Amino acid sequence: MAAGSILGIETSCDETAAAVVRAGEKLLSNTVSSQIATHQPYGGVVPELASREHLRAIVPVVRQALADAGESYESVDAIAVTQGPGLAGALLVGISYAKAIAFALNKPLITVNHLEGHIHAVLLEQKQKGEFQLGFPVLALVVSGGHTHLFLAEERAHGWAYRNVGRTRDDAAGEAYDKVAKLLGLGYPGGPVIDALAKKGNPAAVRFGPSQIKHPNRGTPRDQQTEFDFSFSGIKTAVLRYVQLEGMADAVTARQQKLAAIAKPRAEDVLPLCDQKTLDLVASFQRAVVRDLTGKTLAAAVELGARTLFVTGGVAANSELRETFETEAARAGVPAYFPSRKLSTDNAAMIAAAAYPKFLARDFASPDFSAEASLALR
Ligand code: KG4
Ligand code: ZN
Repeated sequence: MAAGSILGIETSCDETAAAVVRAGEKLLSNTVSSQIATHQPYGGVVPELASREHLRAIVPVVRQALADAGESYESVDAIAVTQGPGLAGALLVGISYAKAIAFALNKPLITVNHLEGHIHAVLLEQKQKGEFQLGFPVLALVVSGGHTHLFLAEERAHGWAYRNVGRTRDDAAGEAYDKVAKLLGLGYPGGPVIDALAKKGNPAAVRFGPSQIKHPNRGTPRDQQTEFDFSFSGIKTAVLRYVQLEGMADAVTARQQKLAAIAKPRAEDVLPLCDQKTLDLVASFQRAVVRDLTGKTLAAAVELGARTLFVTGGVAANSELRETFETEAARAGVPAYFPSRKLSTDNAAMIAAAAYPKFLARDFASPDFSAEASLALR
């Protein structure tokens, strides 16, 4: 059996990423080229621009990942690529390149679901630390700019089987962070800046009601209904209404103008531009989102008898979310695991790691597969 060095490629959203992981647990390299500067002026990812940027970055990023790993195109044992979910045009760049090199090198090609990738980011790092006993079922909260999903995972002969037990009915949690940051003139992406600013505000200053899901499962086919759903569009509207009622709109515009002059604004640049009222609003928004995510996830864990909790995806980088999950999960007696911050957001190490069980099972992709923007995880 080959050592199982897998080159992973990830282009589902706005990061062009490549990595080499050996045997699903040894991280040899992890290259991520971010497009934040490209999308910053728009306050969100522009799909057309994302595809163009991937096309520009894909070859150098893969070369860098191979060089950092001390590997070559010839030495890796397989190529793994994200098939979906994500932006179709963005996914196609990674898929086309992965197909081309797999064909030219005569190497097996493995498709990976991006959401399973996020789950494997946790596994990869726990395995690296050694000593890791995993209790099943695992309840995984995948919470990012595009997703807020709860999966209950069981172990199977080759890999895991998933049941989707919860999802957002409207915006993803990361999307709410990005939209609230945009409407407060805090820059893009919203998560890291709100995370930092919230530490300076009073989280009890503004009261946001618990998210209300008004029409449970209406219109959803029975076999796609989920029990533990989220909703984040209401809180975004509530923040907007607060800004209007409290007369904060002019201050937002002034901040936007000042930040537009800075190429890559960081939290340190934004903080002096915020009054206490804004910081309190930001802290209160974050507290409400964190309460909602932890409350519903732990209720699901208890009801479904989960023995382990995984929290992963871009929003899992949030400091308050991590702290609250750690405390609440300990109270519920369920061990909770997160990826490091670097592996919380999109990367290709998670794709290469998730491909390893498929590599062992020789579950290779047929040459005619394509991108699937709404690929489900099962
Ligand atoms: O996983 P990811 O890189 O891409 C998707 O698959 O969506 O997640 C990006 C999202 C963005 O919405 C970003 O604002 C959010 O993750 N994010 C955070 C933090 N860092 C990134 N949200 C809250 N706190 C953070 N520290
Ligand atoms: Zn992601």
